Amino acid sequence: MAEPLPFTPDLSVKPVVVPFFDQPTNTISYIVKDPASDACAVVDSVMDIDYAAGRITYDGADKIIAYIREHGWRLEWLIETHVHADHLSAAPYIQTKLGGKLGIGENITIVQDTFGKIFNEGTEFQRDGSQFDRLFKDGDSYKIGGMTAHVIHTPGHTPACMTHCIGDAAFVGDTLFMPDGGSARADFPGGDARTLYRSIQRVLALPGEMRLFMCHDYGPNGRDIQWETTVADEREHNIHVGKGIGEDEFVKMRESRDATLDMPRLIIPSLQVNMRAGQLPPADDSGKTFLKVPVNTL
Ligand SMILES: [Fe+2]
Repeated sequence: MAEPLPFTPDLSVKPVVVPFFDQPTNTISYIVKDPASDACAVVDSVMDIDYAAGRITYDGADKIIAYIREHGWRLEWLIETHVHADHLSAAPYIQTKLGGKLGIGENITIVQDTFGKIFNEGTEFQRDGSQFDRLFKDGDSYKIGGMTAHVIHTPGHTPACMTHCIGDAAFVGDTLFMPDGGSARADFPGGDARTLYRSIQRVLALPGEMRLFMCHDYGPNGRDIQWETTVADEREHNIHVGKGIGEDEFVKMRESRDATLDMPRLIIPSLQVNMRAGQLPPADDSGKTFLKVPVNTL
């Protein structure tokens, strides 16, 4: 059974949501702003990488920074819905320019432990989440200006996935995709299809009119990219969980589908950077920074 929601949504609060689509990784980042003040948060920002060249740039993050500056907004939070395996976070870069606190789910420590081993990180790599300013637990809340954001633990895709509910808007990370996209894979280390199904049920227990914002969209069947839907729409039309599709049926579908998927193109650089809260690994004795490629491990 899905656990009950740890808070009562307040749909009278309607945050301003500004999306930014990153084409190379099909990621949508968001600015979420309090309509009653100049306070805002940034959810799931993207750092640009030319992986073949080993080159990192910040064009996408600079657009978000410019937008916040032009509007005179104040950045209070940088939120990571989870440790992404398909893009690199730009949260620390944005934080150095605009301030704000960086938050992620408390199970980041599990992810750090798993991938600390996979990448054979030394003891200097802390696995206690201390690279972040705040580690959220299920039911935690925080303020963005006058708005209260509520955090629900929605694991399954990864152990640290959280859904952030702010007024009538919820940021689901990779817990759900648009109704015609279904759900995210659950086969990464620490992922679990049955756990994901139960997490999705918690999201679907939110009020039907609540706006849902996706972290990814791949435009299935050639449609244009979309990122916003509602709980009611997902309940009715989601191809993996809609119309009351049961847990066992979902698990069977998810596991057989995951067995056919290749690793995401950027999983190796993404995890090394994102498990460090978006920081690159420390430079070596020569002052150069390297990312590792573990052979025959993932
Ligand atoms: Fe993800």
